[in-house]
Amino acid sequence: MASGVDRPIGMFDSGFGGLTVARAVIDLLPAEDLVYIGDTGRYPYGPKPAAEVCGYARQLAWSLVRDFDVKAIVIACNTAASVAFEQLSAELPVPVVSVIEPGVRALSLTTRNKKVGVIGTVGTIASGAYQRAMLLADPALQLTATACPGFVEFVERGATSGDDVGVLAEALLAPVRDAGVDALLLGCTHYPYLSRVIADVMGPDVVLVSSADETAFALAALLTTMSSRQKPGHVGVHKFLSSGDVQWFADLGRRLLGPELANAQQWSSGGTTK
Ligand code: DGL
Repeated sequence: MASGVDRPIGMFDSGFGGLTVARAVIDLLPAEDLVYIGDTGRYPYGPKPAAEVCGYARQLAWSLVRDFDVKAIVIACNTAASVAFEQLSAELPVPVVSVIEPGVRALSLTTRNKKVGVIGTVGTIASGAYQRAMLLADPALQLTATACPGFVEFVERGATSGDDVGVLAEALLAPVRDAGVDALLLGCTHYPYLSRVIADVMGPDVVLVSSADETAFALAALLTTMSSRQKPGHVGVHKFLSSGDVQWFADLGRRLLGPELANAQQWSSGGTTK
């Protein structure tokens, strides 16, 4: 087993969305090794029952622990974090970072009129995780929470602009636009890839907040507290795995994340649950 500092960081998402968080982590912590699993073979998580998503999250997290000896796990998926964060934190032998609290922190620091919005998958919004986290962060926040079914599928197809996604965005974002929010949290890690479309609908007075940077900051703080930061001269090695079509994952992933996604490997769920 590698010493604490040399072990990689583990991350997972239902597919490509968590690459927005991976980008922020690679940029902030370039010395750290990273193992990312995109569960593209079973995406989307958003419409699935909470228990099913929780089961997938456990398989992925335990695989990162057992097969890759990670030193910490980032749940780079709001849907999975909203239903599995407590359980994973309790059962895993490594610390777990969620995207939800960092996103809420960024949102509460951004708003001026205290009217805020969060958009996410059906599963995330129905779980109430954001509603609870906002109340804890600042009870004075007036939250409008809206599900955006269909957004994730556009991203997974690589269709991040165009009329079809624009028409869908007009319809889905109407409640948050009409609520007069001045800050909108992208409560799904796929949504930053649709920022242009979402910004066009919301208008120039609404700040879009992504949890990616705040999550990377939270991870850095955690590693520092644990004395687990990789030695500064080390050049991070990044490994990407997919449970679906690996070639598609590498091709679209490189477009979305950048050149670090040089190649991708197959991940399979067989025998990795506790
Ligand atoms: N990126 C996931 C999230 O943050 C997308 C979930 C899905 O697969 O529907 O919620």
